[in-house]
Amino acid sequence: MEANGAVKTTGPLKGVRVLDWTMWQFGPVSTSMMGDMGAEVIKIEALDGDAGRGLMRASRSGTGLPGDRNAYFETTNRNKKGIAVNLKTQQGRDIIYKLVGSADVFVQNFRQGVAERLGVGYDTLHEINPLLVYGSASGYGPNGPDSALPSFDGCGQARGGLMISATPVGTKVPSRVSGGVSDQIGAIMLCQGVLAALVARHTQGIGQKVDTSHLSANMWLQGLGISMAMMMGVDMGAYERDNPRNALANLYMCKDERWIQLMHLQPDRYWESFMTVMGLEDLISDPRFETMDSRMNHGRELVEALDAAFLTKTFDEWDKIFRSGYDFIYAKVQGITELVDDPQVISNDYITNFDHPTIGPVQMCNHPNIYSETPSGIFREAPELGQHTEEILIDELDYSWDDINDLRDAGVIL
Ligand SMILES: CC(C)(COP(=O)(O)OP(=O)(O)OC[C@H]1O[C@@H](n2cnc3c(N)ncnc32)[C@H](O)[C@@H]1OP(=O)(O)O)[C@@H](O)C(=O)NCCC(=O)NCCS
Repeated sequence: MEANGAVKTTGPLKGVRVLDWTMWQFGPVSTSMMGDMGAEVIKIEALDGDAGRGLMRASRSGTGLPGDRNAYFETTNRNKKGIAVNLKTQQGRDIIYKLVGSADVFVQNFRQGVAERLGVGYDTLHEINPLLVYGSASGYGPNGPDSALPSFDGCGQARGGLMISATPVGTKVPSRVSGGVSDQIGAIMLCQGVLAALVARHTQGIGQKVDTSHLSANMWLQGLGISMAMMMGVDMGAYERDNPRNALANLYMCKDERWIQLMHLQPDRYWESFMTVMGLEDLISDPRFETMDSRMNHGRELVEALDAAFLTKTFDEWDKIFRSGYDFIYAKVQGITELVDDPQVISNDYITNFDHPTIGPVQMCNHPNIYSETPSGIFREAPELGQHTEEILIDELDYSWDDINDLRDAGVIL
């Protein structure tokens, strides 16, 4: 806290003002990332609030927290102030137009046409503030026959190819990664797009619109695979553990049923030392495994041998051996609830502590980048619906208390 009671922030975006007219996860996460980086983010909600406030079934045990808080909303909207304004009224739009005059960024993720219908489309806001960066998220992009279709996380994973890429060979049902990863990568790309446009504003003196979609972001997440497939004419293919292209970049189960991921992309470099450590010296000069190609052609046999070897020791035992003078490349396969105890996560503060004024001390996934001079952080909790409406209208936009009462009576604000 600063002396005047304001929340003290640091971060590379300190001094940047973001108007965040978003809902659910895609839009909100992009702007909460900007908040993590120190931007002042003002969330604009309809009088009945972001629908994400009501999401209660993100897990089987629900999302509810003490004080009527919601873990989904707290996560996607940390580091924001909040105002509730009815954009279906002219007075409501006027409030937003005044804010746009002093804003650097406006972000929205409503269905195509909604922003224009409510008077906050790019052309209108660009006229008010030509230097404004306008971030816009959609399901499938601004052009084409499906540009106005609604979309949520699973749609992006499905249509963008991610589900099939994540489905192991031999499995009939496509895999959907949980946790809204398609929204999350969409949010990351939208944030990145807005930041680049802010640089262009600085260097070239222009504002502009940045469009990101579930489809584009999920494709870019697989950009290497897609571009290589286009150039080679064949798909990399899904992961095939039992018959891998490279058995030294494969998954194996240890004696304690902990899985280990090997990642030796230069298998010849490690072949002799690795097979020796695994107790499989006999196979080093076996003609079936002499070259990378022959190892690929006899992948199943090699995996069988390695499967049996890994089952003789626990992960910790293998880990200890691998660290005793070898340079093997591997990782423990962990679940997300284990991360909090991972020494690397702890050392780098990748899960961080936040003293939430209503819930008390909580732990959250931290902003992923570490800035040496301008630290990011969790500076404030997600706002209650309309929590800062009066503060912003009176302190910044010169409305009076009488105006506030009139606006409330007219159904413009909460
Ligand atoms: C998320 C999505 C499926 C939700 O669809 P939806 O619930 O039907 O909502 P829409 O985007 O069509 O419209 C939002 C409604 O809120 C209203 N609204 C939003 N903010 C408002 C405000 N401040 N004041 C008044 N009305 C407001 C809009 O006017 C619209 O209602 P209307 O159609 O009656 O005018 C859709 O917005 C979408 O596909 N977005 C793009 C992709 C995306 O970001 N998906 C979310 C991933 S987490």
